[in-house]
Amino acid sequence: MPPQPPGPPYAPRPPRVPAALPVLPYRKPTRGRDYWVLDDVLPDVDAVRERCLAKDEDDWVKGHPYTSETWPGLRTMPGLEPGELARVERLVRQATGARELWVQRAPGGGTLDHNCVQVVGEGESEPRPHTDSRALCRYAAVLYLNPGVPKDCGTSFYRQSLPGGRLGGNIVQAPHTNLVEALGTRFVAPDAFEEDVRVPHRYNRLLLYHANLVHSATGYFGRTPAEKRMTAVFFWMA
Ligand SMILES: [Fe+2]
Repeated sequence: MPPQPPGPPYAPRPPRVPAALPVLPYRKPTRGRDYWVLDDVLPDVDAVRERCLAKDEDDWVKGHPYTSETWPGLRTMPGLEPGELARVERLVRQATGARELWVQRAPGGGTLDHNCVQVVGEGESEPRPHTDSRALCRYAAVLYLNPGVPKDCGTSFYRQSLPGGRLGGNIVQAPHTNLVEALGTRFVAPDAFEEDVRVPHRYNRLLLYHANLVHSATGYFGRTPAEKRMTAVFFWMA
């Protein structure tokens, strides 16, 4: 047996009480500054929806609960056709003042789920506050693609809820690229965040926001493919 390094024979036990999470900076999500709500975005949004519902099963990639993936529901790419996407990007440039938008290539040749349609039903997921990677996007957007989904199935912005009832922040900044890095863990208590600003669901509405704000779908809906919450999501650098 080789000589052993000095020190305790056993690794110290992990602390029973989790360390307090870092407190993020806070900026009240403000419409026109931090997020934008654009209505009646596509001239023929029904066509997008019908096109997606007509896809074969093979066209969809399956997540939870169909596979062991952690992301929920079904996904297919590309969502919008080039003309539709160009219209969305023009509106995004107008709203934000960005001269140029581009899509960052995901590291390792992976795909970024830009212009991706996602279908997630009730019970397939719950609100999961997160930020989108600062390394991959500055702006993110979600286009709601259901005529018959309740208003509370839109998107919400969240802020930290700290022990003792104090409120924390909602922004991930450099050097961190996402919320997991900023908090130093992916395991946070379910009540570590509270809803701050809710943007109601509306068919053909685009919610555009700074991707480093803590956000999540407010809720999911529907049991059948036609009823389930359908969105297209976008991620741009600018
Ligand atoms: Fe997101």
